[in-house]
Amino acid sequence: MKGAAKRAPAERPPEALAREEAAAELASLAAEIARHDRLYYTEAAPEISDADYDALRRRNEVIERRFPDLVRPDSPSRRVGAAPAAGFAKVTHVRPMLSLENAFAQEEVRDFFRGVRNFFRRSEDLARVAEERIAIMAEPKIDGLSIGLLYRHGRLALGATRGDGVVGEDVSANLRTLQSIPARLHGEDWPALIEIRGEVYMEKSGFAALNAEREAAGEALFANPRNAAAGSLRQLDPQVTARRPLKFFAYAWGETSVEFARTHEEALARFLDWGFAVNPRSRLCRGVEEALAFYHEIAAERAFLPYDIDGVVYKVNALDLQARLGMVSRAPRWALAHKFPAEQAATLLRDIAIQVGRQGSLTPVAILEPLIVGGVVVSRATLHNEDEILRKDVRIGDTVVVQRAGDVIPQIVAVVPERRPKDAKPFRFPDRCPVCGSLAVREEGAVVRRCTGGLFCPAQAAERLRHFASRDSFDIEGLGEKRIIELWQDKLIKSPDKIFRLDPARLAVREGWGELSAKNLKAAIDERRRIPLDRFINALGIPQIGQATAKLLARRYRSYALWRREMEMAAAGEAEARARLLDIHGIGEDMAADLVGFFAEPHNRAILDDLETELQVLDYEAPAETASPLAGKTIVFTGALSAMSRSEAKARAEALGANVASSVSGKTDYVVLGADPGSKAAKAAELGVETLDEEAWLALAGEPGKAPPSAGRRGA
Ligand code: IVH
Repeated sequence: MKGAAKRAPAERPPEALAREEAAAELASLAAEIARHDRLYYTEAAPEISDADYDALRRRNEVIERRFPDLVRPDSPSRRVGAAPAAGFAKVTHVRPMLSLENAFAQEEVRDFFRGVRNFFRRSEDLARVAEERIAIMAEPKIDGLSIGLLYRHGRLALGATRGDGVVGEDVSANLRTLQSIPARLHGEDWPALIEIRGEVYMEKSGFAALNAEREAAGEALFANPRNAAAGSLRQLDPQVTARRPLKFFAYAWGETSVEFARTHEEALARFLDWGFAVNPRSRLCRGVEEALAFYHEIAAERAFLPYDIDGVVYKVNALDLQARLGMVSRAPRWALAHKFPAEQAATLLRDIAIQVGRQGSLTPVAILEPLIVGGVVVSRATLHNEDEILRKDVRIGDTVVVQRAGDVIPQIVAVVPERRPKDAKPFRFPDRCPVCGSLAVREEGAVVRRCTGGLFCPAQAAERLRHFASRDSFDIEGLGEKRIIELWQDKLIKSPDKIFRLDPARLAVREGWGELSAKNLKAAIDERRRIPLDRFINALGIPQIGQATAKLLARRYRSYALWRREMEMAAAGEAEARARLLDIHGIGEDMAADLVGFFAEPHNRAILDDLETELQVLDYEAPAETASPLAGKTIVFTGALSAMSRSEAKARAEALGANVASSVSGKTDYVVLGADPGSKAAKAAELGVETLDEEAWLALAGEPGKAPPSAGRRGA
């Protein structure tokens, strides 16, 4: 705990706390935890360890359990982790959440100003609303989702989505996780009851990072920041929301117990005082010309703003005038959304290129006759994936409609069929990686095709190398992402074996290195020249083969040499080797396909050859706690068991360190005979392999759910 506000070392047990003391401590815990949340989530500069943080939350919980009526509206227990039981409760807005009238053309904007002027008759009013001088607040129109936040006595009591404007959903628990939504209003001069309204949104950078994370995890991507924000807010688990980079701008309000401003501008200033973010680009304009100038200025800046906007909103600044203008149908007469033109344009699709991502995913990219969409030159657009091309029937030579959706990556919306030339060429999605030439495979049910080139593929190499050196793989200290990328770019480590051939003398002279760090890295590398088989397998970064699967493989094959031989046999199409692989509980068809794909590539085998000259891969050793009479034994099940299913039996045997095989051979140690065992029993008898009935098997395996017998170690 460095510099953190430390809690009293000898904390009083909660049961010893008097009511007042408990209330006081809950208040201080709320403030303290909120501060650590802010440090952690927004400033990425936590001051205390996770354990200390958890201790604070636990103490808060314990005290709350003892004094449930003292639970504060801003309690940390309600901030993160309080998941609504199922779905979200409905909330009826006391004042409906209105929508806005839209305008696209300047003429419509001028009509709006004329309409406001014509609404009034009295000369003193007319002086205020003349088109050339009326005070209008102009604000960027954020492309997020609108919400209402009800504060009672300065405390956030309820947060709800707009819904249909009349009824929304209670997403309080999720909104409480946003740092830009104060749990308590700052200052004192707020109405006892006020509903603040505004937009929840995700910045472009946060959106990109989130999607990158999702891509790496193989999860579906969000189409744009708006969808990402909406999806993140409508999470049943607020902890998920808490991890998403959501922000909030306040720009309106609903019910209020007292009037707190005379103009919209003043209201925004109050929001700021109360602890909200208000869009700093909002500007008070005088007259329609200034308002239009603001629109053009914002339109030009649009691409450079950190968030997506889809227009600007004009609001009559004087609240008395707003009140008199009132509303038409569901929109106020005092406001207008001036939207940016739909950013679509047609152009020629010259070609389709394939981009290879860090994780090996192949993404089709449209190469376009350059055109301007939304003020930006576009020459490439995403086609998402193989199926999208077919679904939209996109062919090379087509005229396509391009869209910049919410300012993100341009997309192909559709083809213009009547402009299709006779020689338009359907696109054949490649089954080889365009970067390295390796097979690109698409697993059943997957939308994405992936390159199997792994370490060999330059598009993936840096990422794979990072994985290779990372904690769960080779665990090379001092070889983190930054250095990997640096050394890879400078061609010092183009493949993993080169890590072991780094010349410290060459490193020492590099900028930012020096003798000592070169020597240290060399030592850290040398320390890893002996590596357990499971770590080694994990390090190779074969798609789908992570730590857990690597362990399964290591346990089954035990030695690197055997594993490699078996994989190569399977890759060469030997059915038995493949069957033995699939025999491993936890290895399915698609994992097997990835393994086989890896070994089918000559350059992957070359990388293994190179690594072999540098390393010693250690045989797998069954961890002591699984040492059982079955460890290391090869076992075959045949016939039906009554106490457990075949898959449970296999899993159990493997958990005890046994290899489960499907056919009886001279290498089989035990054959477990269930009911109607069939030919395998005969085979066992013929080869003299020991057989076990179900009872004997259960004795060896331990009853399902019970601890296995620990007598006898492997080899003993
Ligand atoms: S004012 C009665 N101001 O646009 C006024 N809305 O098309 C209510 N929006 O539902 C809205 N930025 O989600 C207002 N500065 C802004 C806005 C804004 C974005 C959204 C909001 C609203 C939608 C209406």
